[in-house]
Amino acid sequence: MSEVEFIPSSYTDYPKEAKVGWRSPSNIALVKYWGKKPNQIPANPSISFTLSNCATTTSVTFKKLDEQVAHWSFEFLFEGAPKEDFKPKIETFFGRIEKYVPFLKEYHLVIESSNSFPHSSGIASSASGMSALALCIVDFESAIDQTMTSDFLKKKASFLARLGSGSACRSIEGPLVEWGEHKNIIGSDDLVGISYPYQIHDIFRKYRDTILLVDKGEKTVSSTAGHSLMEGHPFAENRFKQAHANLNSLKEILQTGDLKRFVELVESEALTLHAVMMTGQPYYILMKPNTLRIIESIWKFRKATGLNICFTLDAGANVHLLYPDSESVEVKTFIADELSKYCQNGQYINDHVGEGAAKYI
Ligand code: DP6
Repeated sequence: MSEVEFIPSSYTDYPKEAKVGWRSPSNIALVKYWGKKPNQIPANPSISFTLSNCATTTSVTFKKLDEQVAHWSFEFLFEGAPKEDFKPKIETFFGRIEKYVPFLKEYHLVIESSNSFPHSSGIASSASGMSALALCIVDFESAIDQTMTSDFLKKKASFLARLGSGSACRSIEGPLVEWGEHKNIIGSDDLVGISYPYQIHDIFRKYRDTILLVDKGEKTVSSTAGHSLMEGHPFAENRFKQAHANLNSLKEILQTGDLKRFVELVESEALTLHAVMMTGQPYYILMKPNTLRIIESIWKFRKATGLNICFTLDAGANVHLLYPDSESVEVKTFIADELSKYCQNGQYINDHVGEGAAKYI
């Protein structure tokens, strides 16, 4: 696939006003994207479960301007109120996607967004937020470009979402999305996330993710800054190779439903992500004491019960507990009795694997 494919030829007509709305879920990576090349090209391929309950709902009203503006004309409302501090991120996004959606400067945009999870939860909303916004923009474009198919709409939304935030390109479809070239994954691409093209054991279609909210504070190092610390990192090349190898192994695991191997691979990926944070220059630690207490507790519980619960981590202190639906009852009790005490105000969010974004307006 090439970027040129996403540059439109010409539009038929420009409506005076139109409103579109999409709900887009968050996702949790099993093999992590960490490190990038210019233009939001990942340094290694990654794969994630698409979530369901953690989502951003965004509507965009497009109002035709009398004449094209030199700069972006838009308002951003978050949970009903204007939110000026989000605007620079959106402007950067518009700057990156301008070439692919040239109609943007013909319109004034009213963007209204809200999250299903508390903003202060420490859950990154960039994947769900950027994918919802990208879907709204491409959906509007499909009205002025009659040649656009629904398949292309999703592909282009993933392409644009990636330019907003890399992992956002994996939030369009479900239940598993792969992003980044891999020699054994047909159709894999650095420019877009693809719906995982191989057979998946039924157990993974109903997998659960409970997000334990360990620390709701601002991260000391943003993901974007973290990615750039992979440049010149002493272990970078081996880490990128390892991600390729882990995707190979995961292909077999996803097909056979081998949960023992799944647990090992997923936890090793999470710890590797944090290990490279701790071994870069400058080094840093995003885990908190309670992150480690939770990990120890999971290992003890798994040993005692033989259940298949495991953890993964994002670039933060929160812990994602992954487990099959059939183990929900035992895990629920374990969380209430053992793990909730390590969460800020005892808070956690129950989620599960989902089917991707949906249009609502
Ligand atoms: C640790 O997608 O947030 O969650 O492209 O700079 O916006 P930017 O980074 P982002 O990085 C996500 C990193 C991760 C791993 C993953 O989701 O694969």
